Amino acid sequence: MASDTVYRASTTAPVNIAVVKYWGKRDPKLNLPTNSSLSVTLSQADLRTLTTASCSASYPSSDGDSLLLNGEPSDVAGARTQACFRELRSRRAALEAANPSLPKLSAMPLRLVSENNFPTAAGLASSAAGFAAFVRAIANLYELPASPSELSLIARQGSGSACRSLFGGYVAWRMGDKADGSDSMADQVAEASHWPEMRALILVVSAAKKGVSSTSGMQQTVATSGLFQERITKVVPQNMDLMEKAIKEKDFAAFAEVTMRDSNSFHATCADTYPPIFYMNDVSRAAIRAVETINANVGRTVAAYTFDAGPNAVIYYLEQDTEAVVGTFYHVLGEIDGWKQASLKGLKPSMSLDGGVASILKSGVSRVIMTGVGEGPMKTDDFLVAEDGSPVKR
Ligand code: DP6
Repeated sequence: MASDTVYRASTTAPVNIAVVKYWGKRDPKLNLPTNSSLSVTLSQADLRTLTTASCSASYPSSDGDSLLLNGEPSDVAGARTQACFRELRSRRAALEAANPSLPKLSAMPLRLVSENNFPTAAGLASSAAGFAAFVRAIANLYELPASPSELSLIARQGSGSACRSLFGGYVAWRMGDKADGSDSMADQVAEASHWPEMRALILVVSAAKKGVSSTSGMQQTVATSGLFQERITKVVPQNMDLMEKAIKEKDFAAFAEVTMRDSNSFHATCADTYPPIFYMNDVSRAAIRAVETINANVGRTVAAYTFDAGPNAVIYYLEQDTEAVVGTFYHVLGEIDGWKQASLKGLKPSMSLDGGVASILKSGVSRVIMTGVGEGPMKTDDFLVAEDGSPVKR
């Protein structure tokens, strides 16, 4: 191969939303958690990161490794990104040492170009999809024989929740107990096809100001909350068992109760942090009331809310209950960005909500995202780096 050969590999990776939350690190450097967690991978048709990794001996070594994210140069000097580069390179170097005929990709600068298919302004955790795509793309470029679980060990060091985005469907991150973190990785609890009816309605809520980042928020909780000990020793282990059983048995009522209880428990430890951290706001709480009203009206649990480190509500429901769940929110929120009109066709206006709840939602929800359970990272020939190594303009 000529020395100006540009090697390229592209992948997409999904977002995941936890139903048993990761909150707390026992080792911030290796990004090891204080508890296991479990999430649902969301469909990449609606939310995904596309990343092309490339390397070439012709890239000036003075450029070093680089990342262009949504058209803007992004800093790769941070310890977490560096840890991912280091781990992937050393695995490639081992392959090259074992087989000297392989091109020495590990010695070449890496050029990465990445794009999200959803607005960054939506305030959705994009770091999970971002680091999962980053690790998967470089692993593809380097032709590493690593399994998704092995790659999850690397992605975890970029961002904890990213380790769960290496799989589709229903995914657990086992906390592990080894000091070197070699057993803190993700595995798949069930394929998306095991329970494909799972849907997620995301209510995007604009926050007045940027809240505490999850990295720093969880450290403050670990350091100051007494309630947190109860959560990691009793609440989460029990929720993990109940959740895995609910998923295996496709028991939505059980899935929903654990999802809502675990979100409540996580936000209770945030409130118990000193000084307290509040991620949910009045709009988030109105979404909780709406879900309770829907479940009470239907007479069974058809919807489950969960909240991450921000005010957006994620509401899980099953396809067969679209009318009760989506119909109710559609009726209240009216025509805002994100509704999939085709799937709403024929939906009758469903039950009405308490006037106060309805008006808070109407004024506070800026867009919706209708999505569902989906697949893990996918290799693609859609390249964001051209054959000559330049970023592709779209
Ligand atoms: C509330 O994965 O963003 O979304 O490991 O510091 O990057 P770092 O944290 P991050 O935390 C996510 C926390 C959460 C719950 C979850 O996704 O499990």
